[in-house]
Amino acid sequence: MGWGMKNRLSGIFNPKSGKTVMLAVDHGYFQGPTTGLKKPRETITQLLPYSDCLFVTRGILRNCVSPAISTPIFLRVSGGPSVLGELSNEDLTTSMKEALRLNASGVGMSIFVGEKNEDRTISSLGRLVNEAEEYGMPVLAITAVGKEMARDARYLGLACRIAAEIGAHMVKTYYCEEDFEKVVEGCPVPIVIAGGKKIPEKDALQMAFSAISKGAAGVDMGRNIFQSEHPAAMIQAIRAVVHENYSVDEAFELFNKLKGQKVVDRVVE
Ligand code: 5RP
Repeated sequence: MGWGMKNRLSGIFNPKSGKTVMLAVDHGYFQGPTTGLKKPRETITQLLPYSDCLFVTRGILRNCVSPAISTPIFLRVSGGPSVLGELSNEDLTTSMKEALRLNASGVGMSIFVGEKNEDRTISSLGRLVNEAEEYGMPVLAITAVGKEMARDARYLGLACRIAAEIGAHMVKTYYCEEDFEKVVEGCPVPIVIAGGKKIPEKDALQMAFSAISKGAAGVDMGRNIFQSEHPAAMIQAIRAVVHENYSVDEAFELFNKLKGQKVVDRVVE
């Protein structure tokens, strides 16, 4: 791994805990103005101070995020179908030149293992890694986003391992209750978990806690943060689990304490 690649990755992972809390706000690229992201600038502004990295499309980055921020950016570079279409029919949408122009710390794309366009999306990942490595740009592969996939360790393990074999430097996938540690063991690059559909806050904290305990390198979480009634409190509670080894009860107590507090906008405009 060259210096540029290492430098970009080290900006994402907290030097003390070695883990990361990435904030995923890319959902609009196929879902449109989804709940919690109807006004992306407002959502992002209040959560950015607690995010180690922002996972976002170039459109939202350019229009809704101040260029004065110092938070590292992971750029979603794939897309194509809307939520009304065949989700696996994604292609690369954003060039490496654009990622460099936007000063991205990494690029991310989805692969659709077990779905209609499995082979094409996996080959695209290979091409993206080839190009990204010329510039020291980390690639995050996103797996298991398909509609009806059984998200068990066997399937997640297959998808994550394939992503790593093709050359992804990080993998984002879902958590599964049973044998998640085997998914991690079988994947030689760091795994971050997506949160999935909104669930009660304590359950989402439990999911983050279990994933970290079983070897995840962090979270790249969206809806369970920005769809919470108290998103700033929720992301801080998630941080406590990921970076400070809080138990679920301690983190939930923190959430309840923080949710009563006024959100202070600390982002440079
Ligand atoms: C969608 C994505 C999202 O970034 C990912 O699913 C994380 O968000 P959430 O925690 O809401 O699942 O890649 O394709």
